[in-house]
Amino acid sequence: MKLISAKNQTEMSRKASSLIIETVRSAPEAVLGLATGSTPLGTYQELIRDHSENGTSYGKVTTINLDEYVGLDADDPNSFRHFMDNQLFEALDISEQQIHLPNGTAENLDAECERYDILIKQTGGIDLQLLGIGENGHIGFNEPGTPFSSRTHVVELTESTRKANARFFERPEDVPTHAITMGIDSILQSQKILLLAFGASKAEAIKRLVHGGVSEDFPASALKRHDDVTLIADEEALALV
Ligand code: F6R
Repeated sequence: MKLISAKNQTEMSRKASSLIIETVRSAPEAVLGLATGSTPLGTYQELIRDHSENGTSYGKVTTINLDEYVGLDADDPNSFRHFMDNQLFEALDISEQQIHLPNGTAENLDAECERYDILIKQTGGIDLQLLGIGENGHIGFNEPGTPFSSRTHVVELTESTRKANARFFERPEDVPTHAITMGIDSILQSQKILLLAFGASKAEAIKRLVHGGVSEDFPASALKRHDDVTLIADEEALALV
């Protein structure tokens, strides 16, 4: 795992966006794996700034998001689809057909998971997967204990993850109990992985990732089995490394 340190969130976001922009400029048809949450927000702002100032085009990329809540449709203000539209897609030259997230309102959720894995394969696979990390080491919504062999699946969210995500909802009880997430094996199939972390709340997880062993108790440790992972973290997240 390659480690790049950044002074703060702003610098982390600049460094991360540079890698993404480089990918899209050298391969305009790149397949980008994207994440939601606080971690990539600054990176998305940098992509938008670069798109408007330098004209980097997203007209041919394909995007595949990691996860979506079960029960929320695309128009729901708390859905990840809505988040992505607001935080990134609406400001880029990207059309509906290029954007993919799991459908959290599919009637048959297992069939939806299967469809998503097939879709990823049909795109030729993810060239660059952007990831954040949970305080408990989750990646996507793969909570501790998730088999490393997992493909896209439905998960019941842990109390700690629901609490952490409650900040995006009006009332904590509105946080859905389930989500569809790409599995750990689905994530590991990506050509390159870019893991981001900022802030003191991620310091323990980053310490365990860097210094700890590989174990299903700590999902992010699976990334040590991939040979092209770049971790960009700020000084606070790296404080215990
Ligand atoms: C988001 C996702 C999650 C987050 C993680 C960190 O699509 O899959 O794994 O990356 O929970 O969340 P933040 O960035 O809000 O700290």
